[in-house]
Amino acid sequence: MADKNIPMSGFSSLAIHAGHQTDSAYSHLTPIYATSTFVYDNAEQGMRRFSGEEKGFIYSRWGNPTSAEAENKIAAMETFGLLNEMGEPLQVKGYLQASGMAAISTMLLSNLKAGDKILSHYSLYGGTQDIMNSLLPNLNMEGIIEDLRDLNKTEEALKKNPSIKLIYLETPANPTIQCVDIEEIAKLARKYGKLIACDNTFATPYLQQPFRYGVDFVVHSTTKFLNGHGTSIGGIFMGRDLNFMKGRAYKIYKLIGGNSNPFDAFMLINGMKTLELRMERHCHNAMEVAGFLESHRAVAKVNYNGLASHPDHYTAMKQMRHPGAMLSFELKGGLQSGINFMNRLKMCTRTVSLGTCDTLLSHPASMTHYSVPKEQREKYGITDGLIRMSVGMENIQDILVDLDQALQ
Ligand SMILES: Cc1ncc(COP(=O)(O)O)c(C=O)c1O
Repeated sequence: MADKNIPMSGFSSLAIHAGHQTDSAYSHLTPIYATSTFVYDNAEQGMRRFSGEEKGFIYSRWGNPTSAEAENKIAAMETFGLLNEMGEPLQVKGYLQASGMAAISTMLLSNLKAGDKILSHYSLYGGTQDIMNSLLPNLNMEGIIEDLRDLNKTEEALKKNPSIKLIYLETPANPTIQCVDIEEIAKLARKYGKLIACDNTFATPYLQQPFRYGVDFVVHSTTKFLNGHGTSIGGIFMGRDLNFMKGRAYKIYKLIGGNSNPFDAFMLINGMKTLELRMERHCHNAMEVAGFLESHRAVAKVNYNGLASHPDHYTAMKQMRHPGAMLSFELKGGLQSGINFMNRLKMCTRTVSLGTCDTLLSHPASMTHYSVPKEQREKYGITDGLIRMSVGMENIQDILVDLDQALQ
């Protein structure tokens, strides 16, 4: 049976077929290769595998066929329709990881050495922020935080700090939904000879392709929209410099040991096949919800990139197909109204995380940011009455009815 590595003109065709290799039993779906190791016919074959003379799997921390399908599918989606400098289809290499955090750590540790600095936007996922604050300083590396939406400030920071090795973007960012201009920052990265990485978790490759702008690395928490069903934790670290990815990055990936596992990879592969359909529905519902909340008397403010009132609306629309499915809104009554609202929800789900079929809501002040002093979290826009929402794929009228009764 032929493997389907033919050119495909549609994103869903690619999401469904890309990365699949026919196995010896001709399984329709790639099996869960629940094995730690792979065997050789003889010692010579083992030698050929270890020397790289013969392609093949050796040990599942180094690579596994189920994980490989997920890696190749995500790489195909992230490069869909993109060409390299020679006008050929762009190729990137990715390593599937145990979590988004493992992917970010492996990317950073493959690239940085003691004395290096990273430049990053101030709104980042809390865990990534903590890597900058708590992990990198111990290794004599430093994270410099700036408002990367201000290109003058970004350029100033690059001029002032020649030891910046890497610019790190997360756009849209968790939890503020702020966006930075990937194309403009990538231009600055090239001008000053810096590497640039982008966390594409909130957007997914269906909405946004950072490699289009010359970004060197893309990372994801696959736990979210890529998996789409909340069935596993995972991440991926991808890069466009194939020599680097197959050399230094592969070595660090193997040494850190943050590889994914075949069961989670299987769940991810099947979730990703419906990415386009899911994102279309998620984004449609998010726009409806944002409009509804904007005109609701109990709501003081709505943060959604799709609204013209959002400060990063232009940037989001420039680089994203749709503005995504994440939004936040501020209730008029502060902390208690946030708690009351959460308690009244009937259909929508009270939880953290994002990107599942159902609508998820969290109240950062009483949940994820409970232990962060009020003044500190308010600096980042996390007020007492802020609610974060991952808009799901239920029928829109049911989402709106639930929100409306909870807002009474
Ligand atoms: C934007 C972003 N990046 C990375 C992560 C970390 O992902 P994981 O929980 O899979 O380690 C998260 C988790 O919420 C996230 O929102």
